[in-house]
Amino acid sequence: MRLIVADDYAALSRAAADVLAATIAAEPTAAILAATGNTPMGAYEDLAARRRRGEIDASRLRVFQLDEYLGLPVDDPRSLFGWTRRSFVEPLGVPDTNVVRLPGDAADPAAACRAYEAAVAAGGGIDLAVLGLGPNGHLGFNEPPAAADAPTRVVDLTPESIVSNGAYWGGSDRVPRRALTAGMTVVLASRRVLLLVSGEHKREILRRTLEGPVTPAVPASYLRRAADVTVITDRAAVGSSAPNPPGEAAVAE
Ligand code: PGA
Repeated sequence: MRLIVADDYAALSRAAADVLAATIAAEPTAAILAATGNTPMGAYEDLAARRRRGEIDASRLRVFQLDEYLGLPVDDPRSLFGWTRRSFVEPLGVPDTNVVRLPGDAADPAAACRAYEAAVAAGGGIDLAVLGLGPNGHLGFNEPPAAADAPTRVVDLTPESIVSNGAYWGGSDRVPRRALTAGMTVVLASRRVLLLVSGEHKREILRRTLEGPVTPAVPASYLRRAADVTVITDRAAVGSSAPNPPGEAAVAE
């Protein structure tokens, strides 16, 4: 596991966009598991600017949705698929046909989860997972407790996630109570994981992720057993206990 402490959110976003751009250059058909949430938005905007300048060609990229609220039509303004499309798929020029949804509106959500896993397998697995860190240690909507073998499935959101997601939609009452999530199995089998963590409010859960026990109570802690994980934080997320000066990279484990 590699830990990169960037000076601030802008530097974090640039560093994450560098990883994405390098992946796209090396593997134009790479399969990307792309998180929504506030944290990766700066990286996606940076990447979209590189595309506008003609520096990257993402037209052959494959995108897998990370999570979705259960029961929302795809055109609901809260749809995480809609957010993925607005923030990543469209600005990068990825064709819609290259996007694998996790359909919250499926008639049989359990069957949709199985179909999603089959699509991941048929596509040769995920090359790069871009993830945020939930305030409760979740990855996607792998809510605690979730161990390494948790499959793609329907989950009940924890009160903490309902509150944190309420910030996106104008209040907790606007947040659906259940969701679909790519499993821990999918996340942990990704050939590379980029975990983006910004802000002082993530400091304690980041510390538990990096230094606490590897436990279902902190699903993100399982990343310490995954193949190739880069954590990019800003200084606010590590505080004064940061192991190295601003902007330098350090091996955390
Ligand atoms: P955030 O969400 O990027 O908006 O902080 C992260 C998450 O809850 O997974």
